[in-house]
Amino acid sequence: MPPIVQANRIADYDGQEVTLEGWVYNRTHKGKLVFLLVRDGYGFVQCVAFERDLEPALFDAIVHVPQESSVRISGVVRADQRAPGIPGGYEIGITGLETIQAVEGDYPIALKEHGVDFLLDHRHLWIRVPSQWAILRVRATVISAIREWLDGNGFTLMDTPILTPAACEGTTTLFGTEYFDEGTAYLAQSGQLYNEANIFAFGRVYCFGPTFRAEKSKTRRHLTEFWMVEPEMAFCDLDQLMEMEEQFISHIVQRTLRDCRAELASLNRDLSSLERITPPFPRISYDDALAKLTEIRAETDDPELKELLKIEWGDDFGSPHETQLTQLFDKPVFVYGYPTIAKAFYMEPWPGRPDVSKSVDLLAPEGYGEITGGSERISDPDLLLERIREHDLPEDAFRWYIDLRRYGSVPHSGFGLGVERTVAWICGIDHIRETIPYPRTINRVYP
Ligand code: 4AD
Ligand code: MG
Repeated sequence: MPPIVQANRIADYDGQEVTLEGWVYNRTHKGKLVFLLVRDGYGFVQCVAFERDLEPALFDAIVHVPQESSVRISGVVRADQRAPGIPGGYEIGITGLETIQAVEGDYPIALKEHGVDFLLDHRHLWIRVPSQWAILRVRATVISAIREWLDGNGFTLMDTPILTPAACEGTTTLFGTEYFDEGTAYLAQSGQLYNEANIFAFGRVYCFGPTFRAEKSKTRRHLTEFWMVEPEMAFCDLDQLMEMEEQFISHIVQRTLRDCRAELASLNRDLSSLERITPPFPRISYDDALAKLTEIRAETDDPELKELLKIEWGDDFGSPHETQLTQLFDKPVFVYGYPTIAKAFYMEPWPGRPDVSKSVDLLAPEGYGEITGGSERISDPDLLLERIREHDLPEDAFRWYIDLRRYGSVPHSGFGLGVERTVAWICGIDHIRETIPYPRTINRVYP
């Protein structure tokens, strides 16, 4: 058998006879020519059959092979600029076809437009189509880049628990579950509190895992189960946090551009807007951002936008505000110094301005908005206890957390990056439900 080629390596086999193992994604028949678009997990390759070159039985088999049948194809690779595929530019002239399983009956996802609910119900099959395949390849690369950068920059991986005794990010989005005789346990909203313990043993740490929020809103940016990476650093203030974040994010984007060019191109992503994602990133305070938004609101003639942009000092930015702000910059922008009341309980107050927190969100450009949220953490045990009480959190569940401020407290900071929002931005797609293999939303736990 000729060597097995992987679609993404096909250029290395120009002129050679190869074997391609995969599935028939599409078939078009034009007179004496048949084109099979075959996917093999690594990409999509156009395979071509000429009637006059082949035994009638073989040609007939190629003409009739049903969509999604599993096949082993042999043939000769040749360069052709016009050949579609991912990466494309090469095709295989078929010399043999072995059908491993011929699909019988109609394949549910015929090659035509389908509604998104139908596609989500068939997510187990939808992941085979080029766009979904490309997005999920980008996701895997983004995750690999995240780990690569953190592992290479002195961060120790610490796996934090998923079953937890209390809220980290507000009590309104908790998923509870009965926990033997211990009462209710909650699915983790964040591993941050544990990482704050971990830095006192390891200096710089990260956790990376599934995160749960009972989000009651249906938006393009919210899932109930998503993946978050959370770096945390001892001896780190807000400025140092932003410096680390811009290095980290730039690495993720550049590595993805390097390794997933074909995937991004297949999604028609504008690559130049990703190429300029390099440090430094612009920074703007909440106060200045609010002033800009007020200006935009005053100047617009669009009554709908005027309504959407309504905001008062103290409110967190919603997605319309973030969208406007990101359009002022061509790189991700840091918005820092949010009002204390808009944010979580653990954030260090701004020196001399207790109503402002040493917090920072990073908003991705082109309208995408928040992809990271972070802050410097309160280091004073008395203030921390006061905040826990103000936020009505169960004091008992936080005893260990307050301890950390008693035994060698230092300024420390961290943030969480949402994988799905990052992938949506890098891929240039509208909705984060396509960035995770099996999305979980308020009305979906199937398949
Ligand atoms: O801003 P968030 O809520 O911050 C935290 O959880 C902190 N404890 C992180 C930390 O400092 N260690 O969430 C961080 C990021 C958001 O910026 C967003 O990218 C993502 O997590 N995220 C969501 N992604 C998808 N669906 C949701 N429901 C999300 N909620 C947050
Ligand atoms: Mg946030």
